[in-house]
Amino acid sequence: MIDKKTIAADERLRQEFNQWAEQGRGEEMENHHISITQQTLARMELKPGDRVLDLGCGAGWASRLIADAVAHGDKPGQVIGLDVSDEMIRRARAGSIAYDNLMFVIGSAQQIPWEENFFDKVLSVESFYYYADQDRALAELFRVLAPHGELFILINLYQDNPYSLRWVEELKVPVQARSEQEYIQLLKAHTFEDVRAVRIPDLTPTPQEYSGKWFNNAEELREFKRIGALLLMARKPGFHSPPPGYEVY
Ligand SMILES: C[S@@+](CC[C@H](N)C(=O)[O-])C[C@H]1O[C@@H](n2cnc3c(N)ncnc32)[C@H](O)[C@@H]1O
Repeated sequence: MIDKKTIAADERLRQEFNQWAEQGRGEEMENHHISITQQTLARMELKPGDRVLDLGCGAGWASRLIADAVAHGDKPGQVIGLDVSDEMIRRARAGSIAYDNLMFVIGSAQQIPWEENFFDKVLSVESFYYYADQDRALAELFRVLAPHGELFILINLYQDNPYSLRWVEELKVPVQARSEQEYIQLLKAHTFEDVRAVRIPDLTPTPQEYSGKWFNNAEELREFKRIGALLLMARKPGFHSPPPGYEVY
């Protein structure tokens, strides 16, 4: 069962991201995340027929890219976009009417409303550090992934990119700022296999002048983008391995 503290944290996230959605920030995030997401999609090697979860899908732009990539073939793939913010999901649905292999669902990463052993691949873009109980989210991801299914968690906010740590105080909701090594240990503790991490630089051009609130000048923004996002990759074992908590005698 999901505990009361996590339910309360999710409610706070729902309210915060509903506001983001109402301000049009769901759609805007495509510009900020497209470069690192495209590089991640290339590593996912999506193919027609794949069943894919976009966890923390926001306004659904990445879900649509995935839906295009898995659509064609004898058996069209299916994409589920899941988000805790009902307003993000409303907008994702409104922007995806033309798609018949894409469904958007309201729900929490810590209680994924889907059956076990289903997804071939999971992508999560700039969402994982918001989860109050990352352990529980990983247990849920392990459950819903198919045997040999692959997990791709992409985050800009992590301990090893000092510029991103400024957001910890500025964001209106609590976030986790673990290091690459801590995330690797966490994934291994959840018995994922083939656990790897790479850095994904943001390849978009940086303007000469920066006037936003997150960086002191354009040079800092350039450095933040050069250090890049953290992409965590892992695979659920096949049926030959025992699930967590079971021993083979
Ligand atoms: C920074 S936005 C990124 C959205 C989208 N992936 C993108 O790149 O445009 C983070 C998203 O994660 C969602 N989120 C935060 N906590 C969540 C949770 N516990 N379960 C599901 N989604 C969550 C938010 O509602 C928000 O839409």
